[in-house]
Amino acid sequence: MAHINENFLKLRTGYLFSEISRRVSTFCKANADANIIRLGIGDVTEPLPAACIEAMHSAVDEMANRETFRGYMDDSQGFDWLREKIAEHDYRSRGCDIAADEIFVSDGSKSDTANILDILAPGTNQVAVTDPVYPVYVDTNVMIGNTGTSNKSGEFDGVVYLPVTAENDFVPAVPDRPVDIIYLCYPNNPTGTVIGQDVLAKWIDYAKQHGSLILYDAAYEAYIRDPEIPHSIYEIPGGRDVAIEFRSYSKSAGFTGTRCAYTVIPNTVTGKTAAGVDLSLHSLWMRRHNTKFNGVSYIVQRGAEAVYSPQGKQQVRELIEFYLTNARLLREGLQTMGVTVYGGVNAPYVWLKTPNDVSSWDFFDHLLENTHLVGTPGSGFGAAGEGYFRLSAFNNRENIEEAVRRIQEAV
Ligand code: MLT
Repeated sequence: MAHINENFLKLRTGYLFSEISRRVSTFCKANADANIIRLGIGDVTEPLPAACIEAMHSAVDEMANRETFRGYMDDSQGFDWLREKIAEHDYRSRGCDIAADEIFVSDGSKSDTANILDILAPGTNQVAVTDPVYPVYVDTNVMIGNTGTSNKSGEFDGVVYLPVTAENDFVPAVPDRPVDIIYLCYPNNPTGTVIGQDVLAKWIDYAKQHGSLILYDAAYEAYIRDPEIPHSIYEIPGGRDVAIEFRSYSKSAGFTGTRCAYTVIPNTVTGKTAAGVDLSLHSLWMRRHNTKFNGVSYIVQRGAEAVYSPQGKQQVRELIEFYLTNARLLREGLQTMGVTVYGGVNAPYVWLKTPNDVSSWDFFDHLLENTHLVGTPGSGFGAAGEGYFRLSAFNNRENIEEAVRRIQEAV
């Protein structure tokens, strides 16, 4: 008889974005003519940069010839030419000491932030997350047994929640007790807020003091426009000793459907065995990667490489400017109505306080029914997200302008 992993039974019924899709499709069945505008899940809408398309076309042509055809890759870690470009353009150009062999190319940051738990002891580590938070961090810890059950607000026993709300200016304070694993995501999903070098430096100090590991999700770093805001945790001294960083081409080059990302594990980051011996997390992840993964396709890695060409850089910049303009239109449209808005300046997410303190899900239903707009209820990201609501700037300009008009009429 096959026994199931009963930790799954502790999870709340549906993954947040699946629950939203379910509600929207129920609404659509009853309102077939509704012209729904989706600003819920952060999924890109604009075509891939021309430089990426061109690179992938020629990679497809290579696969069509026996002489240039490729089968399995020698190294599932990612091709050297891509990892060298990442190290050069994303790290060394910012003064970060990261080498190509510390980079692992993968199919996404969602899977990497989840799979990293494979190399960390289940049921042993005390985990801390900001609240609200990207639900994957919590759910994957539930799945491997790092938590107890949840209360009515969705908080799991055994997890340390660090509120990030208007009250603390969306700056997470370090925990008042030792924790083993800390998830930080900046620019932040869902609040669209950012933190400075000084805040990150405090986290690095805390991690050094307690031997904690920081899992730093920088999937939205390309949206940072403020020159004072760090793009990588490795810009801060000591970051190399305590942090793993996750990056993705999904929101920068529009690869949500193409799939390519990477994870950086410096050789200097370690974890402890039960006997107290320090071991390299890089070697463990390498072992895990080579066993469970055959690498991202050659064609897609060529597409990702093109992001670093002069044309690719320019086209990615234009793409991001486009979504940041959308974010500004949403932000300003809401502000003219007196709605309190956060984020959306160095990030593609606008985080608003629900008018008249209605609950996040009530506001979701109100918007859907009265304006046919879909957003994401703040409480879906955690108890401290109650009373907030997220709008994604990922859509075409016409829909963003229409969304602002509809909100202004209905709220
Ligand atoms: C979001 O909407 O929070 C993100 O698109 C989800 C993701 O990147 O997996």
